[in-house]
Amino acid sequence: MTRTIKRIAVVAGDGIGPEVIREAVRVLGRVRETHDVRLELTHFDWGADKFLSEGVTLPEGALEMLSRDFDAILAGAFGDPRVPSNKHAEDILLGMRRGLDLYINLRPVRLLDERLTPLRNRRREDIDFVVFRENTEGAYCGAGGFLKKGTDDEIATQEELNTRRGVERIITASFEYARDQGRRRVTMADKSNVQRFGGDLWQRVFKEVAARYTDIEANHQYVDAMAMFMVQDPAQYDVIVSNNLFGDILTDLGAALQGGLGLAASGNIHPGRVSLFEPVHGSAPPLAGKNVANPVGAILTAAMMLEYLGYAEAGRAVEQAVQSAIQSGETTRDLGGTLSTEEAGASVSQRIAK
Ligand code: NAD
Ligand code: IPM
Ligand code: MN
Repeated sequence: MTRTIKRIAVVAGDGIGPEVIREAVRVLGRVRETHDVRLELTHFDWGADKFLSEGVTLPEGALEMLSRDFDAILAGAFGDPRVPSNKHAEDILLGMRRGLDLYINLRPVRLLDERLTPLRNRRREDIDFVVFRENTEGAYCGAGGFLKKGTDDEIATQEELNTRRGVERIITASFEYARDQGRRRVTMADKSNVQRFGGDLWQRVFKEVAARYTDIEANHQYVDAMAMFMVQDPAQYDVIVSNNLFGDILTDLGAALQGGLGLAASGNIHPGRVSLFEPVHGSAPPLAGKNVANPVGAILTAAMMLEYLGYAEAGRAVEQAVQSAIQSGETTRDLGGTLSTEEAGASVSQRIAK
């Protein structure tokens, strides 16, 4: 992170990935003109097409190259109906998350305009929290197997891995963030009433870490109740911390609260190391190739990346431009507008001021 030019690996991926990433890249180009931001972008063609034609998912040596030569990765989405096993997405996306040890999946949930939320009578300040999703273990560890596969007696096991270190570092990161950002409360979501072992570890570690942050209120909810409260009373949340799977589910719900998956941004972060930024949404096959997908999730993701790279002011300028475009109704159809992906990207880009 000491380079003066920040090097970005761009992996647009599948489906709507290339369309939304093109707009995020357009916005980065504009930011280079308006701000003192030095970026060098290198594109990689990893995704379903490459897998289907060459059998290659994440190329050999890719992780080493990314850590050695890049400051950040900007990715679109991975997933293609022609690859029902999702093998390439697992290798590329989960491969980068795990292989680069990107243990924080930071997913902000922020209402940019009151008209966007499906909830009634909510103000912008009522929906403004961040989710810290554990990103390297849990149900995503890939452990499990089959016995007697294909028979009536088949058994499939799917294991969940919770390490003391893994749980402690994500919970600590959530409290550090709360303190740093002047947030009041951290709420941990689990299912410790059923998941007696992993849940017990999360409970114990949460209490231990919370005791080190007496200035931050520590609060616990079962994840099923949290799903309800996120709809009924989202204003109570500042920072949420949860495991990999619950964090995945809660952040699609969070995306809906802020106006839909087309708006939601995320960072897969290991502080001080090359980190991966991608919209929360997937490759949305029904929308792919039609120039209708909302590029704002990808653009706000690029803004998060700018902030991570030390260009906080440029990141804020992008966020303001997004907000201004939305307030003016210059949006794609998912938000009630009439613009294409390209037009929506151009509208944001033009609004970025020095
Ligand atoms: P999805 O997020 O791709 O899409 C679900 C629905 O949300 C879409 O049909 C669409 O209505 C809406 N949507 C999503 N992004 C949008 C956008 N930018 N603009 C407007 N509307 C948008 O989820 P899915 O359909 O469950 O998954 C499709 C594929 O994507 C699967 O292969 C899945 O595994 C993969 N996926 C990948 C990622 C990722 O790479 N990070 C994330 C989620 C899903
Ligand atoms: C996400 C996605 C991924 C996940 C899939 C595509 C593996 O849903 O980034 O939220 O489950 O983490
Ligand atoms: Mn998801």
